Amino acid sequence: MSHLNNARSHLRFLTCGSVDDGKSTLIGRLLHDTGSLTEDQLEQLARHSAQFGTCGDDLDYALLLDGLMAEREQGITIDVAWRYFSTAQRSFIVADTPGHAQYTRNMVTGASHCDLALLLVDASAGLLTQTWRHACLVALMGIRRCVLVVNKMDRVGFDATRFTDIQNEFAAFAERVGIAQLQTIPVCARDGDNVVRDSTRMDWYSGPNLLAYLHAVDIDDAEPAEQNPWRVPVSWVCRPDAEFRGYAGQLTRGDVRVGDAVCVLPSGARSTVRDIFLGDCRSESALAGQSVLLQLADELDIARGDVLTPADARPSVSDQFEADVIWLDSAPMLPGRPYRFQLGTAQAQARLNPPKYRLNVETLEHLAARSLAMNEIGRVSLSLDRPLVFEAFEDNRTLGGGILIDPLTHQTVGAVLIRFALRRAANIHWQALDINRQARAAAKGQKPAVLWFTGLSGAGKSTLANALEQRLYQAGHHTYLLDGDNVRHGLNKDLGFTDVDRVENIRRVAEVAKLMADAGLICLVAFISPFRAEREFARKLLPDGEFVEVHVDVSLQEAERRDPKGLYRKARRGELRNFTGIDSEYEAPLAPELKIDTAQVTVEAAVEQIHAWLRDRGYLETI
Ligand code: ADX
Repeated sequence: MSHLNNARSHLRFLTCGSVDDGKSTLIGRLLHDTGSLTEDQLEQLARHSAQFGTCGDDLDYALLLDGLMAEREQGITIDVAWRYFSTAQRSFIVADTPGHAQYTRNMVTGASHCDLALLLVDASAGLLTQTWRHACLVALMGIRRCVLVVNKMDRVGFDATRFTDIQNEFAAFAERVGIAQLQTIPVCARDGDNVVRDSTRMDWYSGPNLLAYLHAVDIDDAEPAEQNPWRVPVSWVCRPDAEFRGYAGQLTRGDVRVGDAVCVLPSGARSTVRDIFLGDCRSESALAGQSVLLQLADELDIARGDVLTPADARPSVSDQFEADVIWLDSAPMLPGRPYRFQLGTAQAQARLNPPKYRLNVETLEHLAARSLAMNEIGRVSLSLDRPLVFEAFEDNRTLGGGILIDPLTHQTVGAVLIRFALRRAANIHWQALDINRQARAAAKGQKPAVLWFTGLSGAGKSTLANALEQRLYQAGHHTYLLDGDNVRHGLNKDLGFTDVDRVENIRRVAEVAKLMADAGLICLVAFISPFRAEREFARKLLPDGEFVEVHVDVSLQEAERRDPKGLYRKARRGELRNFTGIDSEYEAPLAPELKIDTAQVTVEAAVEQIHAWLRDRGYLETI
């Protein structure tokens, strides 16, 4: 039954540490001393060592990795370099991630697949911020086994006390972050002491050398079947003909058998497993880690993103979670902004609340925070636009570990480790009211709409919106004008002009505009609203066609020349920070319904143009 070979017979481990800690030398040593290098690689290593080496006549193992690094520079290897080697006892898969702080992203990617982490520290430098950060990330990512490799013991004269001090200091921290199994090994990677061979220079150390430990460490995490129910997040529905319907996905945990009772989530529909296919072969059962195709006894409506589970041991379904978020993007997290959330094979739109706290990775203190910058870790609650099937990250890395994607740039901006669901959502229901939006609009005899004016300060948004409102009002329409400066005196008076605050400013006004349209009004909004993401959010809050984006477009030079409130002058003098167009971004609409250049037309002409556009498309019809 070769197809039942479980990938977990391999040990996957992550190496963390900066180049200065001797990480390249250590991995080079491991590959070399286990006989994993080809003749060509050995020859090249000898040549490079003679030419560029820093180890006298000896081989410089760091150069081996540097050679392999060249691939990375040519863009061949991405994010994480996976290296493979094996001995008679075990096969190893090593995730090698670059050590600099900006590579947290790579560490997170590597860690999500690993059983164990090697943390390197230079004995002469001792434990550094980087070590705490790595230990924290490793623990957050659910890795419970760590080896602290105390390298460069030659530099401290193979001193036992130095080693024990580092060992004790780290062990206390490891326990607090939840690293359950810790082995500390003193090595000199350059000379190979305690890497693959026991050192003769540190008799005081009685533990295993690194390879001996990697051979011996128990990585069998399997829990008893009843505590480890199976899960298949559906990645695609296979329908080659009208007869056959199979659901493909990876078994993220547990074992599934033909005849098992199945529940489909989130719908809750039930059936039984009729057949299991592994590739082309029918099988009676499948194990965690395998890619399977399941056929069910009943025809059900199942789509990508649904999760198949045993009927009697289901995961939770919720649209609100509390999670640890590791921020990976150079632009900070913007609470309130809609991000795309990918969890297993499912997607939803997610909105993040301001962090409950940010973690100080050295002291594990909880710090107050309004946002997270790159590489920062915080506890955050997320609200989704629909319920997803999930488990706590510690129980299931696939259904508990998601990513956040910027919907405009498609960049991965954060890693999300779900801790638990918030029950709040289940207790707040949308009140279906008897007088609905149609009834309210009909009472006013008009079609509701939101006319959204966006543009630089001084572009003329308020002036135009004002003049248009007068025109509509005179014609008997029911209107309301929400103006940035005015709303900031009341509802939004707690907000300033940082990106985080502007996102919240627009989120609130978008929600208010939606309520006004629900009330049957034609609502005019005049806010700079500098970011596309929030304007898109406002558009999506409303039924199709009810959101009309008007780009009030003048050049920065023209807006600055007008400078009606003297704010540009202040900003240029450095007295006003984060001023749009000067030191805060304005993202012009890509496809606005209307674009008005107020440097080219008079206010009257612009109002006429907008009015005609609305009238021609039926917005001003009476109903
Ligand atoms: S938005 O960017 O969050 O949409 P909003 O339209 O509410 O801005 O407020 C913009 C108004 O606030 C401007 O017309 C200007 O009068 C005032 N203001 C004060 N400081 C700033 C600033 N740093 N950037 C832009 N506008 C500012």
